[in-house]
Amino acid sequence: MRVVILGCGGFVGSHLLDNLLGDESYLIEGWDPEDRKIRHHLGNPRFTFHRSVANSPEALVEVERAVQECDVVINLAAICNPSDYNTRPVSVIHASLFDVYPVIQLCAKYRRWLVSFSTSEVYGRTIASYLPAGTYDDPDLYELREDETPLVMGPIQNQRWSYACAKQMAERLVYAHHAEDGLPFTIVRPLNFFGPRMDYIPSRDGDGVPRVLACFMAALMSGQPMQLVDGGQARRTIVSIHEAVDAVRRMLERPSAAQNQAFNIGNPHNEVTMAELADLMRRTYAKITGDARFNDHPIVTVSAERFYGQGYEDCDRRMPDIGKAQRLLGWNPTMALPEVLLETMRAYHEAYAVPAVA
Ligand code: UGA
Repeated sequence: MRVVILGCGGFVGSHLLDNLLGDESYLIEGWDPEDRKIRHHLGNPRFTFHRSVANSPEALVEVERAVQECDVVINLAAICNPSDYNTRPVSVIHASLFDVYPVIQLCAKYRRWLVSFSTSEVYGRTIASYLPAGTYDDPDLYELREDETPLVMGPIQNQRWSYACAKQMAERLVYAHHAEDGLPFTIVRPLNFFGPRMDYIPSRDGDGVPRVLACFMAALMSGQPMQLVDGGQARRTIVSIHEAVDAVRRMLERPSAAQNQAFNIGNPHNEVTMAELADLMRRTYAKITGDARFNDHPIVTVSAERFYGQGYEDCDRRMPDIGKAQRLLGWNPTMALPEVLLETMRAYHEAYAVPAVA
């Protein structure tokens, strides 16, 4: 199978390459301006890498050729970090919508299967979050179902939703080209994939505020308190990157089941509040380091405005219905949160906290 991957050098792309390049039947051509996470694949004869963005006029000539020659295009390129959504929304909207549109058009022109990575943020907030407390008793008010759940989000000055809106518009463009031109598509809505190589540690190999896993890791490794935004009551479900990538592999291997569908990819059994996550992470880090003092690592609360700046608004809860992925792909994530954290945090510890041997 000939696969084009746009944004192949990021967290998800690097794990997808690990998975697909382990099988000789895959030939991959990828684009990304960064290669730090995929250097171990650069010499592979079944992988052609373009160290550039895919949306420059020069790159698009090559992308068009690659789209014609391939069986499937997977688009992973995006700015997908909430701290960017309200601080540089123009770039966020461009990256998720306007930069992606030429790719959607090329896939429509050549009728190539487009696997379009979207986000769980296209659901916005739950209906339950607008109702009086206690309304989480009814799953109809919070469970996220691919073909039923409406989009619910705050007003335009709450720029947190810039990403969600751009991704939702990209989904609609994909769907519109499917309806009008017969574009074969699959939309993937990831729900908090965790694993080695996710994000970065501020002032070590990146700047700004990464997602929660790396924020908590940075705090643990630097002796700073872990910060709970608005008390850490928001909930997330966390899935292992390995199981998430396995879901994508299953899509590629079952085109007739996967095409023209949107899929939630997440693990409903691994739900935690951010306060619970912080506590579990400090206890896991005590195990990894053998230093019991981490069991009591300080945890403080901070306002969203102070942590993210103006225009941030949180998703209260993301509980996926994964029945469609189970039914159509035979996908069933089983890796429990403590196991996911142990693997992920150990990798962070080895990459950043353990001094390199000279
Ligand atoms: C982000 C992206 O916006 C989604 O598109 C993406 O699908 C998702 O990550 C993902 O990884 O799958 P979100 O879960 O809100 O969404 O991102 P995080 O930055 O990881 O935040 C999770 C929660 O932790 C939020 O409630 C946030 O306020 C909180 N948080 C974050 C803290 O309490 N402390 C921190 O230091 C950082």
